[in-house]
Amino acid sequence: MSWWSHLKRNSLSLAPSMLGADLARLGEEVAAVEAAGVELLHLDIMDGVFVPNISFGADVCAAIARHATVPLDCHLMIERPERYLEVFREAGCHGLTVHLETMSDPIATLKQIRALGGLAGLAVNPSTELPPVGPLWEHLDLLLVMSVQPGFCGQSFHPEVLGKLESARALREETGLEFALQIDGGVGPAVAGAARAAGADIMVAASAIMGREDRAAAALEMRQAAG
Ligand code: DX5
Ligand code: ZN
Repeated sequence: MSWWSHLKRNSLSLAPSMLGADLARLGEEVAAVEAAGVELLHLDIMDGVFVPNISFGADVCAAIARHATVPLDCHLMIERPERYLEVFREAGCHGLTVHLETMSDPIATLKQIRALGGLAGLAVNPSTELPPVGPLWEHLDLLLVMSVQPGFCGQSFHPEVLGKLESARALREETGLEFALQIDGGVGPAVAGAARAAGADIMVAASAIMGREDRAAAALEMRQAAG
């Protein structure tokens, strides 16, 4: 199984971050972005240790799952994520993305996600280099290139990370592997074209979609800007 069995290969997928939603009206917010035609819902989990902010946990993900019809893409910004994979899978998350900076044995953690029937994602902070070519890449369903320092919505996009998307896309072509490429942080119409050209298959957005009253117009602007 890969993300491509849920998404359309070669076309852009949008993943609004529910952290940017009105958290008191989550069910309505899910319905509003799904009506706007988004392909995924992105769930930002922050532990106050790996990042200097605390968001929400598996119970909130389960509540979202009860309303959602599109797959849930869970971004775990937590130390030692292996402790919580089962809990978030049971909460209904399809994809579990873990940070390279938080694990002692990334391959073991990625294998654990797949063993739970999840889609295994690996995230890298702006200052973290991509893992070298090697066995780790075979265990990935998704690579998340962070374009801000994780922890908060509403920050500015770091254009210097686009080179990592290009490198990962080249590695994917050379190896024939099937992982999806995702970009997260400060993504809006102003940078969507560059991110898409560099290889982004999935764009995460809190401010650019959830921060707008008209989610359908916001999603359309992103798609048009991405080209
Ligand atoms: C940042 C999170 C992002 C964030 C995106 O730590 O991983 O998903 O919510 O927010 P915007 O789109 O506002 O940069
Ligand atoms: Zn995120």
